[in-house]
Amino acid sequence: MIIVSPSILSADFANLERDIKRVEDAGANWLHIDVMDGHFVPNITIGVPVVKSIKKVTKLPLDVHLMIENPEKYVESFAKAGADIITFHFEASKDINGLIRLIKSFGVKAGMSIKPKTPADVVFPYLNALDLLLVMTVEPGFGGQKFMQDCAEKIPAIKEKAKDNLIIQVDGGINAQTARICTQYGANSLVAGNYIYGSNDIQKAIKSLV
Ligand code: DX5
Ligand code: ZN
Repeated sequence: MIIVSPSILSADFANLERDIKRVEDAGANWLHIDVMDGHFVPNITIGVPVVKSIKKVTKLPLDVHLMIENPEKYVESFAKAGADIITFHFEASKDINGLIRLIKSFGVKAGMSIKPKTPADVVFPYLNALDLLLVMTVEPGFGGQKFMQDCAEKIPAIKEKAKDNLIIQVDGGINAQTARICTQYGANSLVAGNYIYGSNDIQKAIKSLV
């Protein structure tokens, strides 16, 4: 099964409930929420209060992608706000095992992400402890960027070392064509913002990814 996680970064924030319902009704599996702090990435987006409000209007699991420094400081708040999956960045973390344990202590799935320039082998020691590994296929920070195929090429090496139930997610520049490339490499979760929200038939767009 392929898990499709539409990124609300491309939604209309003034009509967020409507735009969440749109993807929920169209068959999305998760909802991807991009949290940016203006330090780890140059952009600032969504924080804890927004996640808390989103939790009240959707049944979709909340897939929270933390593009922030010091992620350990915020895990508890995002978990209590209703995150079902919390993904932090390898590049932003000091004590990765501690962070994974902290996330799981709240009953939340633990994910780790790598930026385009980070090699695959750095994640190998953590694959057994993780529930999800996110391979960024653009530089994190903004929606609507071009897919980088060489990033997706890291997936087979990760898949080979991973346990069977590790979710391998890709994020950035995903559309019907690039999704195919990623799933062929072994990805089983697709984040897409611009492709889904920019389409005039959201259901068709989601179906075209899987
Ligand atoms: C980028 C974010 C992505 C972004 C993807 O930093 O992590 O989740 O919303 O957007 P698209 O699908 O438009 O590339
Ligand atoms: Zn993301």
